[in-house]
Amino acid sequence: MMRLTIIGFGNQAKSWALNLKDSGFPVRVALRPGSSSCKAAAASGLDVVEIGSAGFYNDGAYALLTPDLAHAEFLEAEAPRLAPGSVILYAHGFSLLNHRFQTRYSHLQHVLFAPKSIGSELRRQYQLQGKLGAVYSLEHFRGPAAEIEAWLRRLARALGINMGPFATSFERETRADLYSEQGLLCSLVPYAAGEMFSHLVDSGAEPELAYFECWHELKLIVDAMVDKGPEAFFDLISPNALVGSEKGYQRLITEDFRSRLRSLLAEIQDGTFNRELENTSVEEIRRRIRDRWHQSPLQQTFNTINRQDGP
Ligand SMILES: NC(=O)c1ccc[n+]([C@@H]2O[C@H](COP(=O)([O-])OP(=O)(O)OC[C@H]3O[C@@H](n4cnc5c(N)ncnc54)[C@H](OP(=O)(O)O)[C@@H]3O)[C@@H](O)[C@H]2O)c1
Repeated sequence: MMRLTIIGFGNQAKSWALNLKDSGFPVRVALRPGSSSCKAAAASGLDVVEIGSAGFYNDGAYALLTPDLAHAEFLEAEAPRLAPGSVILYAHGFSLLNHRFQTRYSHLQHVLFAPKSIGSELRRQYQLQGKLGAVYSLEHFRGPAAEIEAWLRRLARALGINMGPFATSFERETRADLYSEQGLLCSLVPYAAGEMFSHLVDSGAEPELAYFECWHELKLIVDAMVDKGPEAFFDLISPNALVGSEKGYQRLITEDFRSRLRSLLAEIQDGTFNRELENTSVEEIRRRIRDRWHQSPLQQTFNTINRQDGP
């Protein structure tokens, strides 16, 4: 079976590498010279190779699991030395879409294979045998699809993917991923929880109570939503919660909210978000967000509660 070389040992890469190794799928990790991750990867029992060393170029498939903004630099340096027909796997369509790698490096096969999970959960759910999904695209793969599809299915099973992988395109995956981050997963959910936590505490609730209501219970209720599906979920909740849910839905999910959501998607589609990204310092934003949450009462309460061992 074709071995996979995983480039990087970060969030996704670590989970991919460990899941594949534990499943007996042929895998190794490739790191840049002097990488601080080298020790950790080797200590996990993984084969490690240096990017740019002679042995690096002798594989058929490479998963580019470095940050999206680093893909262009990697391919510029390494693509000319990779054997024609080598497969480059992307866990997100963003970089290929922006740089048109399929045209620049047309001697390579560019394949999307995107587990729909943050890296840490890819590992945890694999260990728990939980549910994991993935999507893929072969739109830039030239040649018979059957063999690569069979290999992707084996890769998926070895990673712990038990829903799909489902076919999509680089573009649809990229738009959906950016949109879900902006409209729901990384904005609405944490910030709505944070706002509600603060309102409750300001109105006299104990921080611990507000923490459980607005943060910890979020996980438990989302687990139920995902496990049971929306219809059964609404059958499960109490009459008070049901009536309250309808009231909140009517008050909060307004035409203005829908129009704001639509504008986020429109700005992804028309390239506005990409231009904003180009003019943004990721480190600066990371610092600003860290400061905001570091000082927040919700974070302080999280720290206190998670330090306690219980009675
Ligand atoms: N974060 C997630 O959970 C998540 C979820 C869905 C999809 N994805 C996708 O998965 C891919 C990887 O994202 P990630 O968040 O897992 O990345 P990440 O954790 O930020 O990647 C860090 C790793 O990349 C290596 N690296 C950074 N720049 C490099 C360069 N120029 N050359 C070689 N290696 C370099 C680092 O090497 P050193 O060890 O040497 O520093 C480190 O091992 C992206 O396409 C992303 O969109 C990520």
